[in-house]
Amino acid sequence: MKFLITAGPTREPIDPVRYLSNRSSGKMGYAIAEAALEARHEVVLISGPVALTAPPRAQIVRVTTADEMYDAVHAHLADIDIAVLCAAVADFKPAEFIPRKIKKSEGVPTIKLVPTRDILASLGALNEKYFLLAGFAAETEELEKNAREKLTKKHCDVVIGNDVSVPGLGFESDENELVIFLHDHSSRVLPRGSKRELANALVKILCEAQQKS
Ligand code: PMT
Repeated sequence: MKFLITAGPTREPIDPVRYLSNRSSGKMGYAIAEAALEARHEVVLISGPVALTAPPRAQIVRVTTADEMYDAVHAHLADIDIAVLCAAVADFKPAEFIPRKIKKSEGVPTIKLVPTRDILASLGALNEKYFLLAGFAAETEELEKNAREKLTKKHCDVVIGNDVSVPGLGFESDENELVIFLHDHSSRVLPRGSKRELANALVKILCEAQQKS
């Protein structure tokens, strides 16, 4: 099968030296890419800026901003069987880029933000969606309710929830705990383990769901 996987954060530039971003390290997305490759699948890995080495057999597409990630995802959809959107895409970006360094002496700037385009929702809205669409939900409360809401609103086949408020799990850590919500209202808990162990199990579950769909 052919996987398209997004990973890492995006960076939304404010001026030539500053940007808005988040704590995603890319470890979860890269672990899924490695697990899929080890199971002999093909992988297109669309990655925001991270300090990780790309798995050698992945087709790696490096992007920086949410807009670049949106365009790269839509440009690489051909022949995809499973899309896993694990990237922590910025929800907002500065309304304008200031092309010179904002000086401290000018006072505290007011930065107007505008929403970025939602990549996951844009895939869910495709008229002819021929691949299994799996999104992530990074939550700090009401994991099940919020994840199920994303499943329905963004027209996903699967949403993988993780609680990012627990120390040692979620962002930046080597471990995670996942709850997989499927479209048929069933769910599967993947208890705390290394991101790589969880990725191995997740890849199997996604392949089974793809074959049933
Ligand atoms: O990278 P690590 O340090 O290993 O951390 C892993 C992780 C915590 C980043 C990962 O497990 C995770 O939860 N990724 C999703 C982070 C996120 O942005 O969640 P969300 O609930 O805000 O977004 C829901 C879904 O919409 C996600 O699939 C996201 O990729 C997608 N999205 C969000 C905004 C946007 N503009 N476009 C999108 O496609």
